[in-house]
Amino acid sequence: MTAKPRVFVTHPLPGTAVDRLRESAEVVVGASGRGLADPAFADFASTFDGVVTLLTDRIDKALLARCPKLTFVANVAVGVDNIDLAECAARNVTVTNTPSVLTEATADLAFGLMLAAARRIAEGDRLVRAGGWKGWSPTFMLGSAVHGATLGIIGMGRIGRAMARRARGFGMQVVYTQRTRMAPEMERAMGARYAPVDHLFVMSDIISVHCPLTPETRHIVSADRLALMRLGSILVNTSRGGCVDEAALAAALARGPIRAAGLDVYEDEPNVHPALLALSNVVLAPHIASAEVNTREAMASVAVDNAIAVLEGRLAPHAVEGAGA
Ligand code: GLV
Repeated sequence: MTAKPRVFVTHPLPGTAVDRLRESAEVVVGASGRGLADPAFADFASTFDGVVTLLTDRIDKALLARCPKLTFVANVAVGVDNIDLAECAARNVTVTNTPSVLTEATADLAFGLMLAAARRIAEGDRLVRAGGWKGWSPTFMLGSAVHGATLGIIGMGRIGRAMARRARGFGMQVVYTQRTRMAPEMERAMGARYAPVDHLFVMSDIISVHCPLTPETRHIVSADRLALMRLGSILVNTSRGGCVDEAALAAALARGPIRAAGLDVYEDEPNVHPALLALSNVVLAPHIASAEVNTREAMASVAVDNAIAVLEGRLAPHAVEGAGA
């Protein structure tokens, strides 16, 4: 009898997906919270045929060099910026992700952050709890409107489009930018106008970032572009922290032109730029866009489906283009 392939799962996952994986592989689950530094993996790296990873696990050249048997990296996330895709491709390691199942949950949180930032909900909560509320006044805690505002979406993939659908319910105008413009019928169906990226910064009252982090999108929200934004505008980021120049954002929040921001992701998680922490006009969520029970179980399940497909020699349902075979 041939030995089962060995798979390391870097962290316990919600639901029963890992039990399914055990039918196809000898599974070791990292329970230490140390991810790939867990001795259960680190001391036996060369024996594993596959890894199921989180976005906090870094799969780089050095790690891959220690894992000559590796055939797949199944990321429990839609973003794969934690993985060296070129090196995986060179080593014929299949990389997979978990798109679709987290689309609506992520758009829900982005919309929530937008409302919270525009209408100062978190700031108001802090004030009330601190006993600082002195009563209703016509000039107290004025925010900015969400209904009827122009929403600029950077990255009109699944999540960007889910955001656009929500925006229509709020009577918003939607403009979007991305590398490839959508077909005119799609633009009409989404009620979204295309704009080159710099134009989008000028045209929008609220900007929400939904592109993946790649070398091209790193700091796509730069100091220069923040300076183009409308007076009193809002920025929301639920994609990856690296898409926004955090130091520039903190300066723009302190001095204008933008009035508030809602963030779920940061350049150096779990650290938040101290200049952002010092500001009251930024809502800070701890990377929880997909943190909803059914969504997280579905993400684990899709990652395991991908892993099992590779183990069985089938095409993984969500193989990331440009990585592995
Ligand atoms: C979450 O950030 C993801 O990429 O799934």
